Amino acid sequence: MRTTLYPLLCTLLATSAAHASQVEVQHWWTSGGEARAVEVLKSMWKAEGNQWQDFAIQGGGGKSAMTVLKSRALAANPPQAAHLKGIELREWAGLGFLRPLDPMAEHFDWYRAMPPLVRQTLSPDGELVAVPTGIHRVNWLWINRRLLTETGLQPPTDWPSFITLAGRLKAKGITPLAIGNEPWQLAVLFESVALGEGGAEFYRRAFLALDPATLTGPDMIRVLERFQQLRPFVPQEFVGLKWNQATTLLETGGAAMQVMGDWVKGELSAGNYRPGEDILCLPAPGSQGLFSYNIDSIAMFKVREPAQLQAQSELAELIMRPDFQARFNQAKGSIPALEKVPMKGFDRCAIRSQADFEQAQQGGALLPSIAEGMALPTPLQQALMDVLAAFFNDPAGDAKATAERIGRVIRSAKG
Ligand code: BGC
Repeated sequence: MRTTLYPLLCTLLATSAAHASQVEVQHWWTSGGEARAVEVLKSMWKAEGNQWQDFAIQGGGGKSAMTVLKSRALAANPPQAAHLKGIELREWAGLGFLRPLDPMAEHFDWYRAMPPLVRQTLSPDGELVAVPTGIHRVNWLWINRRLLTETGLQPPTDWPSFITLAGRLKAKGITPLAIGNEPWQLAVLFESVALGEGGAEFYRRAFLALDPATLTGPDMIRVLERFQQLRPFVPQEFVGLKWNQATTLLETGGAAMQVMGDWVKGELSAGNYRPGEDILCLPAPGSQGLFSYNIDSIAMFKVREPAQLQAQSELAELIMRPDFQARFNQAKGSIPALEKVPMKGFDRCAIRSQADFEQAQQGGALLPSIAEGMALPTPLQQALMDVLAAFFNDPAGDAKATAERIGRVIRSAKG
């Protein structure tokens, strides 16, 4: 038996090895929920007989990953594919690093499959330079239902009621707000305060139009003051706390709430907590009807070898398949970045996110996230996040002086 099957097996292996494609993919999806999502991509890729070379870099928000990517690109050794998104796509494409995917998009009719916002974000200069893996909503408030019920308190609908609730929780010995001191986590909180307290128009004028009067004006000062009022509610382990460790506090009752994008949901499911049931998902206070978005995508770096090109094309095709989008986003916490992917099997928060996305799309209420690199050129974004973090961390921080600093920093980063 062995002697007859063995040559056949060798031939089969040799044939599949000859057709196997290999890709190296760089990403920063390293938390429990994120790793499960990557596993979906990896296993679907491998199921087609291909090989996966993982290049994962720790660090929520992706700052370290972007530093590594830059040094690899400068050394003329970029990965074939990388998790790269938003404004940075334009920056990398402008430098000539990214492979245009238009021929594939035309061939497979991808443009029609993507919502207009996704198409625009991924084709910053008219040419498609990445494929989308999912759409995250950033302006979410997550609440531990058990803690809320036990204390008999109501979920907050605006920032003043959030602060009242947080004060009551703190008085009962419960940490109100799970968050760490990393600038990007604080920026997620800040942008939700800016949306809820300042409103969509303020957000647009300040952070998209970069209007000097709005950046330093009374609305900005009010938003900064509100942001500062949240400082007393952070956990004891605030310094160095990662976003997913904050989510662990939320799940286990170590903290009552978290303001963070819906990658939180990947962690919840990985920990067997049901999103929308054990942990409630509500629009961040005051931002009902608004949807601040973060579109995740994979860009392909220019390569010459036909086998590498082929592998990139196959990976892009896989990512654009509705069955991949459904499975990946169920694990990741986001919603599919393609139109008409059935929402069967998604949790309540995803279903709400999808409905809110549609509504915001129709009502012009989709707003690019500052913290997630969808709104500002990278130097401006970094400069703003540093000012915000310094302000939040300084108990004597002055809102008016900080607004002026924001105006100055943005003026000088704009050049
Ligand atoms: C990415 C998400 C990721 C989150 C935390 C964001 O910048 O877009 O996909 O889950 O960072 O790591």
